[in-house]
Amino acid sequence: MRHYLQFKDFTLDEYKYLFKRATVLKQKLRAGELYQPLIGRVLAMIFEKSSTRTRVSFEAGMAQLGGHAMFMASKDTQLGRGEPIEDVAQVISRMTDIVMVRTFEQSIIERFAENSRVPVINGLTNEYHPCQIMADIFTYEEHHGSIEGKTVTWIGDSNNVSRTWLQAAKIFNFKLKLACPAGYEMTVLDGLEYGKEHFEQYRNPFEAAHGADIVTTDVSVSMGYERETLQRKKDFLNYRVTEKLMSEAAKDAVFLHCLPAHRGEEVDPEVIDGPQSLVWDEAENRMHTQKAVIEYLLLGEIKD
Ligand code: CP
Ligand code: NVA
Repeated sequence: MRHYLQFKDFTLDEYKYLFKRATVLKQKLRAGELYQPLIGRVLAMIFEKSSTRTRVSFEAGMAQLGGHAMFMASKDTQLGRGEPIEDVAQVISRMTDIVMVRTFEQSIIERFAENSRVPVINGLTNEYHPCQIMADIFTYEEHHGSIEGKTVTWIGDSNNVSRTWLQAAKIFNFKLKLACPAGYEMTVLDGLEYGKEHFEQYRNPFEAAHGADIVTTDVSVSMGYERETLQRKKDFLNYRVTEKLMSEAAKDAVFLHCLPAHRGEEVDPEVIDGPQSLVWDEAENRMHTQKAVIEYLLLGEIKD
């Protein structure tokens, strides 16, 4: 049994397989072809934080595969009243086939997985958001081919999304340049070493964006960090993706954002709603790539 708790839980070969399957599943859906290998299977989804895309993409994706998805907001369950996560994992994994968890510390999902009889997927923690970066790379490659050897520039917070980009840089062999204000530098948590060929930190966003193939950003205040809002809004004022900043990047550079976005804060409307933006494909591809992951974790490799 496998879990998907961090981006590095799959190898490059596995990602290549998953991207191939995501393309097939996307084509089947577009052609109106029913493909329901998961009839009778249940996905439990535990949300300790809000969501639009993650909930809809997992729920719609599981239904399309013939299965059922069960939404649980932790505040409406005994988890919200202090039931230990280990006990919740024991119980839920005896009644369902696969579980998605969105929670706070990574250690919570790890404890869940240790006590689960079924595969567990990370739907975002404070530390990582693997499903997001899988969809992001799939989206870039759909439009521009292999990401290998390319440069991804991240403007803003060293958070769950940028930390996942960093793991991906090593696996897919591209370079992540991160520009952030003092005090918000990336701390590597996964114990891996990242050489200059994969990772560089900058203070100046324009220097970081120079020659980039992908420019991406995220909110300055992630869920769970709301108490720091005033300070963060001040600190991140100069870390916004503007048209001027995009003009530093390669001519055919694309803009990505995991969403939700705050126009006029981390990104200007001209960029996110402009011709270089792939954000709507990126959001849709959450569903196709996650369907490939669910299928892989439950059924293994599908031979065409
Ligand atoms: N990008 C993302 O995970 O969005 P939601 O918070 O809406 O799920
Ligand atoms: N970094 C953001 C991503 C939301 C999808 C957060 O954790 O709130």
